[in-house]
Amino acid sequence: MAISDADMVIAWKNVLEQCNLRQGEQVAILLSDDSNMQIVSTARIAVSLLGAIVTLIQLPPINGEKALSRDKSGYVGKTPLAFNTAALAGLKAADLVIDTMQLLFSKEQEQILRTGTRMLLAVEPPETMLRMIPTPEAKARVLAANAFMEPAREMTVTSKAGTDFRCTLGQYPVLMQYGLADEPGRWDHWPSCMIARWPDEGSAEGTIVIDAGDILLPFKHYARERITLTVEAGRVTRIEGGVSAEYMKAFMDSFDDPEAYAMAHVGWGLEHRASWTTLGLYDREEALSMDSRCFAGNFLFSTGPNTEAGGSRDTPCHLDIPLRGCSLSLDGRPMTQDGKLVM
Ligand SMILES: [Fe+2]
Repeated sequence: MAISDADMVIAWKNVLEQCNLRQGEQVAILLSDDSNMQIVSTARIAVSLLGAIVTLIQLPPINGEKALSRDKSGYVGKTPLAFNTAALAGLKAADLVIDTMQLLFSKEQEQILRTGTRMLLAVEPPETMLRMIPTPEAKARVLAANAFMEPAREMTVTSKAGTDFRCTLGQYPVLMQYGLADEPGRWDHWPSCMIARWPDEGSAEGTIVIDAGDILLPFKHYARERITLTVEAGRVTRIEGGVSAEYMKAFMDSFDDPEAYAMAHVGWGLEHRASWTTLGLYDREEALSMDSRCFAGNFLFSTGPNTEAGGSRDTPCHLDIPLRGCSLSLDGRPMTQDGKLVM
């Protein structure tokens, strides 16, 4: 359902204040041809109302003919910034970048963040953004999860469907998402409420069973049958099952890149306002489905790149797969039990 511009401006003011936006700070709004113009225009008004200085930086889209869908989380290759030194300099000079074009997983994003610029991604439908507006309580839940994640050296995940997965932790930093870019050099995504980490290289192993009803992203559908993944030395080495397994394997193979099969971030959802059901109610191109990634108690694992964690694996193939009904422990201490938060 539509959201009024007034409500969006009020929400933006709230979120930008929580991002510690100060009078006189420089804000760059990054947009492209497929940006949601209500998000852009209401952000622009809110920035000005808070007394910050706003600049719009519009870049042409690229990769359209290479990607297999319009979902930008499913093809994470080069960005237009790779060739645009003027725009890159402008973004580095900003105190806060509001990204409405989705500049995920890129060298350029890392360079911008290293200058201390904070970045907030805002690409979900406005009604989803408003339903899951970042709050101090949600942030506190993510920080509480990090108190376990940061010192943890092993993650284990089991499920009644047959998942029996483990990896060691410590090589890569924790990815905490609570929807606020509130510190220098911090990236986040409104709406978000989840925690994740990349396994130590080569350490992920075991079996992951995607059960019927679990969500496959970026395909944006619910698995109709079980898919069994074998993980050895940090890589998915077998994908078995029926046509859903065949589809997943064919999608990954189409990138012709062995790095597509590496395990990427593993973690769990912490958002009680996010719902497993929402994906089924939207057309596929309408949303990234942060609901699916963040619903409380899921085990979210992914495959492909690790550039977001400071690694060098920049494969464009990226799957995010949230599972229900899993029990996730850190160093033997339960964080989720049968898909429910217990931390
Ligand atoms: Fe991901």
